[in-house]
Amino acid sequence: MPTAVSLFSGCGGSDVGLHKAGFDILMANDILPYARDVYTANLPETDFRLCDVATVKNFPQADLLVGCYPCQGFSQGGVRDPSRKINYLYREFDRALRQIKPKAFIVENVSGMRRADFRHLLNNQITRFRMAGYKVECDLLDARKYGVPQERQRVFIVGIRSDLDARYVFPKPTHSDDGTTENSFRNIRDAIGDLPEWPEGEYNTEVFHWYYLSRNRYRGWDEASRTIVAKGRHVSLHPISPRLNRIHTDKWVFEDDRPARRLSFRECARLQGFPNDMLFPDSAILNEKYKVVGNAVPPPLFNAVAGALPDVW
Ligand SMILES: C[S@@+](CC[C@H](N)C(=O)[O-])C[C@H]1O[C@@H](n2cnc3c(N)ncnc32)[C@H](O)[C@@H]1O
Repeated sequence: MPTAVSLFSGCGGSDVGLHKAGFDILMANDILPYARDVYTANLPETDFRLCDVATVKNFPQADLLVGCYPCQGFSQGGVRDPSRKINYLYREFDRALRQIKPKAFIVENVSGMRRADFRHLLNNQITRFRMAGYKVECDLLDARKYGVPQERQRVFIVGIRSDLDARYVFPKPTHSDDGTTENSFRNIRDAIGDLPEWPEGEYNTEVFHWYYLSRNRYRGWDEASRTIVAKGRHVSLHPISPRLNRIHTDKWVFEDDRPARRLSFRECARLQGFPNDMLFPDSAILNEKYKVVGNAVPPPLFNAVAGALPDVW
């Protein structure tokens, strides 16, 4: 079994996909206690270190290094400030890469990293990884094309150590709506249609304030969900809610008086492609559950990227 070290592991979205692809994850790391609780409940064999990555002095030897550094600085929902310290955590990943010298690495981040004002940071990462001795490929992948019922595009950077006689090729889509793949796109109904309509205590009940109603937060049963976000109060509507109609540039109203609710954290987890039996311990408040789920890499997407690695083990 090839081995892996995971950094910025969160609750294990990427790592659930990696584990399924056949990797033995020796070590994982995050600073968020609830991420640790979820991770260790589901992947108990991994040595999870709850600390700032900068304090990890020695990493175990492994075949693969994976890391999905935080994205607040690049994301649509975050403050787009290229100078924020959080945008430089990739240097910690680079430090681990140079210490471990794995045969391959995988990095995931938000699509905003390709924007003109962040492009220099993306280029800097690719240059660093090449200088560390890797053949590097970078691409933007659409999670829907890999079986995730959600609008979510993410940048992946994959490297293969230069002394190995292999190159990385990104996986071909497995899902589409034009018959060119074996499977059709999955939709909200496929993912959450079997769950209770009003799961008490599992969804955020804050009022739908003006900011919430400044855009269309509704998607129907037969559509892909909007991007699953980390902030509970910004989570999209469940399809049993009334639709939203646009009445002004940034103003939407419910089409009727039927009750409306946000998606629950468990529905968000399903729409991210987490397995149905994923455990979410009750050791944190609801918004922490939304946070780790929204921060996660969809497991099927990470599984596809890891599964496409050449057999260099
Ligand atoms: C994009 S999320 C990772 C998601 C994860 N790979 C998954 O699929 O579930 C980024 C993670 O980095 C963590 N993080 C932020 N700063 C950190 C630091 N200094 N040391 C370790 N982890 C950190 C955050 O708590 C967050 O869980």
